[in-house]
Formats: sequence, C-alpha cells, structure tokens
Amino acid sequence: MTQIADFHKEEGKQVKVKGWLTNKRISKGLVFIVLRDGSGFVQAVVDLNTVGNESFEQAKSLPQESSLELYGKVLKDEKQIGGYELQVEKLNIISVAEEYPISNKAHGTDFLMNNRHLWLRSKRQWAIMRVRNNIIFAIHKFFQKEKFMQMDAPIFTGNACEGTTTLFSTEFYENPAYLTQSGQLYGEAMAMAMGKIYTFGPTFRAELSKTRRHLSEFWMIEPEMAFYDNEKNMDTIEAFIKFVVTDVLENSKEELKILERNIDTLEKVSKGTFSRLTYDEAVDILKGKKAVNGKTTIETLEQDLAKAKQDIADKQNEIKEKEEIIAKGGIKKGKLNFIKNKIDVLKNEIKDIEEGLLKNIPQWIESAQNFEYGNDLGGSDETVITRMFDIPVMIYNWPHEVKAFYMKRDAENPNLAKGVDVLAPEGYGEIVGGGERETDKDLLISKIKEHELPMEAFEWYLDLRRFGSVPHAGFGLGLERFVSWICKLKHIRETIPFPRMYGRLFP
Ligand code: 4AD
Ligand code: MG
Repeated sequence: MTQIADFHKEEGKQVKVKGWLTNKRISKGLVFIVLRDGSGFVQAVVDLNTVGNESFEQAKSLPQESSLELYGKVLKDEKQIGGYELQVEKLNIISVAEEYPISNKAHGTDFLMNNRHLWLRSKRQWAIMRVRNNIIFAIHKFFQKEKFMQMDAPIFTGNACEGTTTLFSTEFYENPAYLTQSGQLYGEAMAMAMGKIYTFGPTFRAELSKTRRHLSEFWMIEPEMAFYDNEKNMDTIEAFIKFVVTDVLENSKEELKILERNIDTLEKVSKGTFSRLTYDEAVDILKGKKAVNGKTTIETLEQDLAKAKQDIADKQNEIKEKEEIIAKGGIKKGKLNFIKNKIDVLKNEIKDIEEGLLKNIPQWIESAQNFEYGNDLGGSDETVITRMFDIPVMIYNWPHEVKAFYMKRDAENPNLAKGVDVLAPEGYGEIVGGGERETDKDLLISKIKEHELPMEAFEWYLDLRRFGSVPHAGFGLGLERFVSWICKLKHIRETIPFPRMYGRLFP
C-alpha cells in the first residue's frame, strides 16, 4: 500500500492506495474521484474503458466518505491537487457510506461542532491538525536541542496555582482535589533537581465565558530554568517562538496554503526582533498616548471602522448589481447558480464585518480610552495593542497585584513584579505568560496569605526556598492559542481535535 504523500516517489508506477471518497465529479465515460487517505489528497480518474461496466457503475454511485481501495498508475499533473493524478485500473469498495451530513455548502458552527468527529475529515481541519502536529514536534525539537528535560506534572492537584476562580474540583479518594491549572510549581521542583525542564501536558480552567481564546482544557508547554532571570527568560521565549515558526514555515507549506495563511507575517517573526515594552509603555500605547510607527491606536481604530463601513457599502453595491443581472433574466442555469452563490458569499461577508469589526471597534475604543492604569490587560485591550504590530510583543514589569502569588517583586520598585506576557500580533493577544519566581521565603508566605491560599498545601513549595534557593524563571505557552495565531483562525475551538469549553462536552 502506498500513501498519497509518497506519490512523488512513484511517478509512472503502479500503486495500491486505500482511503475515502471526499468528492466526486461525473463526466461522459469518466468518474473523477478525490481520494483522501490522511496523508494527502489525490484525484483518481476512473475510465469506463479501463475498469469495465460493473466497476464504473459502482464508482458512479459511490457516496461521499465511502472507503475504497484503488489500483492504478501515478502520473504527474501540476494542475491537480497534490501535483499528481491516479489513473485507476481497478477499484475495490471497502464500505459504502450512508448519506453524509457534511456537504460542500456552508454549515453553521454549532452543526459542525456537533459533528466534530466527522468535521475533522474536511480539508481545512486536516490542515489545522497537521500544523498542530508540526508545532508539537518543533517544540520538542527546540527544548531537546537546548538540553531541557521533558517532565510530566501531575493532573490531580491539591492546590491552586493560577487563582481560585477557575478551578475544576474533583474528588481524590474522598478528599477534595482539583484538575491542574498549570504544572509550574512542580516544574520549579524539577528544575531544582534537573536544571532546565519543560512540561507538556493538559491543563484545566473553569472559564465561565465563551470567547474565541478560552478553552476549559488546553495543552500547555511550561519550561522552567534554574539560575535564569527574567531577561534570560525573555531571550529564551523569543528564540523558542522563532524556532517553531521557522520550522512550521519550512515543513507545513501545503497546510498553510490550504488555510490561506498569509505567510509574510510569519516570515517576519522568524527573522525579526520582538518588541519589548514595559507595562507602562503598553498602557500608553493602548490609550493612544504613544504612537507605534507614527500611528496611535485610537486613530487606527477609527480608520479601520471607516474602512469597514466602506467595505459593507461596496459589497451591498455588488449584490445590487448582481440582483439586477438576475432580474433581467435570460441567464443559463449554471451561470445563474454561480451568481446566486456569489451573492450568498457577499451576504456572509457583510454579516462577518457587521458582527466583527463594526460591532467591536467602538467597544474597543471605549475600553482602551477608559483603561485604568494598574489593571490587568483584558482580551480587547490585547487586541487593540496587537493590531498595531506584525511581530510578537513582550510586556514586562507588571503591577504585582495583577500577577500570581509566585511572581518575583522588583527590589528597586516593589510595586512591580518581574512577569512577562507575550502577545501574538495581528490582534491575537496573549499566548505566553511567565516570569521570574519569588525567592524570598517570607515574601512568598505573605503572598500566599494575601491570595487566601491554604498554607499547608504550599509547605512543599516553600521547601524549594529553604533548601538551596536560587533565582529561576520560566513561562507557559498555550498550545491552542499558538496554533490559532499561526493558522490565523477566528476561534480557538478549531485548534484541538475535541475542544472542551463552556457549553461543550460532546462529542
Ligand atoms: O498566563 P497563564 O495563566 O500562566 C501560567 O499558567 C503560568 N503558570 C505559566 C508559567 O509561567 N509556567 O497561562 C499561560 C498560557 C497563556 O498565556 C495562554 O496562552 C494559555 O496558557 N491559556 C489558555 N489557553 C486556552 N484557554 C484558556 N482558558 C487559557 N488560559 C491560559
Ligand atoms: Mg496570563
């Protein structure tokens, strides 16, 4: 059996492939089947004269998603999907599919999410899952090359790590327990044993809102490095993200093309230098007091709003013109369908702009202008800032009140914590949170009290400060947020095979 992805090695040769029929077109004496086998897609040509009547009729009536085995010759054909074509000599049906619920026409998100187990077979989802796989592999390559040790942190935990509001409670032999929000505290213990480590595991947050950035179950990569300060931490984050982006550009070209991802930004990220801003500078940019490349956020948002309105007007005009053409009549059926389809597409695009930019921009402007210094940046604040950049932005020196209990305070300015958030450009927002860890045992104890966390649960953690405490730092990258940005998706739900989020536990 040959994989479609290996057809380039089989040009002119006979092969056997097994897969599923994803699309079919019938013409006189020919059936064109698009076969997918997981490794790729290929057009297979079934010719009545070659396969005979019985097989030809079988091919003609075969429904979408039926599984089959094809024998035939591989021919180069640049015009075809994947660059090859299969001339079928023989076909064996493995299983005839029932009527498939997902067709080529537009489906609503809820319908697709309810059919996630089938939706995963479509080409866009195929591409996203493959980029995710590429990213995971590249992440391991980076850390292994840099001599980090991979470790697995526990999933059942006895204490909170990232605040008590998003804990999922469970039971552990009749005792209360929580699903882990982060492997960091265990990572710190391992870093004191191994030097440089990284976790790569599932983490859980009971997020009580539906947003395009939040999952209840997501995968996090958390490196922790002994003897690193936040400067070195930021250098590591930058090198890491550039390495992974470069790897994806190199190894996921076909997938990025399917996703219509404009790769210019990714190329800039792989070669450029990240912007590093203090929290104070970021707030000034947010509020429009400081310009980026000669423009302020508020000006930019106002221009974008005007442009969104113009786009809608243009599209409405185009619809009107097309409707006039239809009204005149005398158009062939094929052409008529084509025009009607285009009108539907335009209407959908208008709806997207209305529900997206048109609705959001005024809210973004308002929350940016009203942002109070000292607060944490919210989702829309991050969007406003990162729409100004085409390269990731690192924000450091945060007010300590908005950061977690373990964050190191700045000795020179105790109001500040040595944390860093990395925001992905193009409006995406936070993909990494991290920082230097507090080494002062007494400060830590007072922070644990301030956050109303149970001291007993943290005694083991305090031991790390009692026995050979050293400066150390680390960070956490949310895998799905990273995939979402790399693929430039509208919503995080498409980045993981079976998303778990507010209101979604099935399939
Ligand atoms: O900023 P967070 O909460 O930081 C931590 O958990 C630290 N313990 C990390 C560390 O220093 N070792 O989360 C880290 C990242 C975020 O930047 C975001 O990318 C992702 O995890 N994240 C989520 N992704 C999807 N859905 C959610 N509900 C997420 N919450 C956080
Ligand atoms: Mg964070």
